[in-house]
Amino acid sequence: MASIRRTLSPLYHNRPGGAAPSPSQKGTTKQHNSPQLLSRRGPWRRPFYQFLAFFLIGFLLGMTPYGQIDDMNGTDHSTFQIKPPSNVKREEIGVDGVSFVAEDLDLVVPRKLVIVVTPTYNRAMQAYYLNRVAQTLRLVEPPVLWIVVEGNAASFETSEILRKTGVMYRHLVCKRNMTSFKDRGVHQRNTALEHIELHKLDGIVYFADDDNVYSLDLFRSLREIRRFGTWPVAMLAPSKNKAILEGPVCNGSQVIGWHTNEKSKRVRRFHVDMSGFAFNSTILWDPKRWKRPFSHPTRQLDTVKEGFQETTFIEQVVADESDMEGVPPACSRILNWHLHLDALDVPYPQGWVMQKNLEAVVTVR
Ligand SMILES: *[C@@H]1O[C@H](CO)[C@@H](O)[C@H](O)[C@H]1NC(C)=O
Ligand SMILES: *[C@@H]1O[C@H](CO)[C@@H](O)[C@H](O)[C@H]1NC(C)=O
Ligand SMILES: *[C@@H]1O[C@H](CO)[C@@H](O)[C@H](O)[C@H]1NC(C)=O
Repeated sequence: MASIRRTLSPLYHNRPGGAAPSPSQKGTTKQHNSPQLLSRRGPWRRPFYQFLAFFLIGFLLGMTPYGQIDDMNGTDHSTFQIKPPSNVKREEIGVDGVSFVAEDLDLVVPRKLVIVVTPTYNRAMQAYYLNRVAQTLRLVEPPVLWIVVEGNAASFETSEILRKTGVMYRHLVCKRNMTSFKDRGVHQRNTALEHIELHKLDGIVYFADDDNVYSLDLFRSLREIRRFGTWPVAMLAPSKNKAILEGPVCNGSQVIGWHTNEKSKRVRRFHVDMSGFAFNSTILWDPKRWKRPFSHPTRQLDTVKEGFQETTFIEQVVADESDMEGVPPACSRILNWHLHLDALDVPYPQGWVMQKNLEAVVTVR
């Protein structure tokens, strides 16, 4: 009964656009009988064996456990688990109409799970931003889990966008009473960290705000990270009239210094943008394995000044630069851009639907 097995998580079946049939289904449907053998054993035996073979196929298919469907609004996560699909080589051995699937597990190393954490909130550019990130993520080789966190309540607009992306996602809500704009992202990211910790997700965690621009090379580089990876991020200066860099200076994959810009921020320990680092999620739920000196959960702090959130978080994850890996080696490429171009407080059409679109500004004559 080696063929009764599912390698894909139930979430794969939620993907719009049709998930590929799971390997176990392929394995049990590709049967081959051997009619020549059977027909020699008398005229009545053949229908009998055919009946038996189909009965067994039906029985095996019926026994295949189908994963339970996760709810879309992400309120109940108690049985949530993810396993990266392994590209397993299969051989079929036919025995009188029933085939067994032999698996050769040690040949292919499964791809690492990338856990992308995106805080978001309702504003004019939200649909544009979320769609842009989603279009990038759907080009990234799976497995990718996109954890999108909203404040107060899950909005219909965000759910609709996520549902259509074709990316495996979780839509979470941060219930904290958020007073200031600065704290919003902090608490939303912490909601995602709690989720990763609670479900012991094993992957590379990356904080990807919705308003940044990401290259596909970035996601390829994320899978090279063992413990903690960092790289320089290009961004617009607050004056918006020049591009600046923030992040590590590397010799090979060794971090030997930092690019930084604002003098007032020189007192920071690490000069990294929130979108300029990623880390192994086991640091969150298995700190002993990494000899991390802290006993409290690894979280972003709302008590620090703006601009110090990254460094105070990273100080909980690594001791110093020797624990870091420059990505890609020599940190020689820009992998993502942070533009600070948000238009705050601009209204948007509710549900992104236009109710009154009959009044033309310029009419056709
Ligand atoms: C959230 O904070 C505001 C202002 O600090 C307060 O008026 C409100 O009652 C709080 N709401 C909850 C649910 O704690
Ligand atoms: C994280 O690190 C642990 C311990 O070295 C390792 O077993 C695990 O595979 C790593 N996970 C990823 C996604 O790299
Ligand atoms: C870079 O690393 C190489 C080999 O580890 C070393 O010889 C060289 O001095 C390093 N350069 C700098 C600038 O640290």
